[in-house]
Amino acid sequence: MNYKRSVHLLWNNKSEELKAEETCNIREIEKVVANPVFNNESIFEHRKATLASDYEMKNHYYYGDNYDLLQVLAQRENVRKIDLIYIDPPYMTELDYYSRISVGNFSDTWHINRKAFQDTWAGGIDSYLDMLYTRLRLMRQALAENGTIFVHVDWHSSHYVKVLLDEVFGAENFINEIVWCFGGGSSSRKHFQRKHDLIFWYSRGSEYVFNQQYRPYSQGTMQRGLTAVKGDRYKLNDEGAVLQDWWVDINKILSPTARENLKFPTQKPKELISRIIKTASNPGSLVADFFAGSGTTAEVCNQLGRDWILSDTSKLALQTSLYRLLRSDSPPFTIVAGEENCLEENDQTILELKKPVFLQSDKDECLLEVGIEYYWPKQDERPSSGHDFASNIEFWELDLNYNGKFFNSCYQVIREKQRFKAPLALNLIVHVPLKTSYCIAVKVYDVYANQTVEVMTF
Ligand SMILES: C[S@@+](CC[C@H](N)C(=O)[O-])C[C@H]1O[C@@H](n2cnc3c(N)ncnc32)[C@H](O)[C@@H]1O
Repeated sequence: MNYKRSVHLLWNNKSEELKAEETCNIREIEKVVANPVFNNESIFEHRKATLASDYEMKNHYYYGDNYDLLQVLAQRENVRKIDLIYIDPPYMTELDYYSRISVGNFSDTWHINRKAFQDTWAGGIDSYLDMLYTRLRLMRQALAENGTIFVHVDWHSSHYVKVLLDEVFGAENFINEIVWCFGGGSSSRKHFQRKHDLIFWYSRGSEYVFNQQYRPYSQGTMQRGLTAVKGDRYKLNDEGAVLQDWWVDINKILSPTARENLKFPTQKPKELISRIIKTASNPGSLVADFFAGSGTTAEVCNQLGRDWILSDTSKLALQTSLYRLLRSDSPPFTIVAGEENCLEENDQTILELKKPVFLQSDKDECLLEVGIEYYWPKQDERPSSGHDFASNIEFWELDLNYNGKFFNSCYQVIREKQRFKAPLALNLIVHVPLKTSYCIAVKVYDVYANQTVEVMTF
């Protein structure tokens, strides 16, 4: 039976066309070797420089529309095929999402609302379906022969998305519809509370990875044992109960002060993504998340020994993911962008560096002190004097050998706790090789999710 064409969804201007691949031109904007210096460490840090070029980069973040990246992954030859895709795209909620944070110390606190992403569709459902349909088709092409995809949505679009997936992957390749149930939040007088999402799992072909997952037995089962109900032939598994397709044991991140909570609206818990990745991939597999948000998938991949590709159009998503990856000491990764998506420089922002000071030197190495003298972002409407300028900075990075092409991030100064409130170190002392001239660069990521680079040659 040919399932593929038996039932499918039609909408105005549905197109089978995909743009030609030549249209996208991707370039590297940053290489990151995580070497975080936390605010609770000494302001003066003695560390050995590690250059990104010393590493083979297995992990990549694409800043821009995933369509362009997908074209490259799907259509270009000699590109590594993906073993597992997890996506959590916009759900067609007709909302714009913001991240509200409080910044500054207790005597000087202010609140800002940063735009995270938009889930409003001027062209209505047609434009939503156009967006997803083209990308799902490219995702299928980018998958390995035995690869699989998890598509996470909710009631707003799930009924359409399942039909699209049947068309793109073939109804015969449907594996599971996982119901993720959670609690908390609002209530309604007009209907039952909507407290579950749906995660559709499809394979590209008939072979795929499935690692059985378990959950702890309930207290009742533990007390009476299975034997009481089912007879002596049944024993409890050491691993726990075999997991089914409804998951009620992982909640949303509800606490505003949880370490995991990165203040990115729609952020998913690591435990949920971890379960998916463990189920459908193995150590060393390549996992992709084309709607990355706060970068949950990348952090979980690092913990589980998987390589990753992430992408997102939102600069807040990029910055949140970067912070998450630095804080968790990620393996090295590159940040790439389409030519048209390169983060614009902000000429109204002020970034002044301290004059570098050589503190000590021997035959081939010296200690160099570098730091930030002053920073003020254009968005901050408070008077620029009388305020702690460092509270405008979320974190900053140092490139000790700036090549003028991309930023080689080899040290990062971040706040580990109280991400927008604790004092932030503004000086670093680092080891550098003895040379006749140096070109260093500092990149500031501010609390408004803007980046500014300042280069100094001496
Ligand atoms: C629901 S959020 C993902 C949340 C994520 N799973 C997490 O745990 O934080 C959807 C994300 O998709 C991104 N996005 C929407 N359209 C996109 C596109 N065409 N290309 C890349 N990213 C896109 C948005 O910027 C947003 O960050």
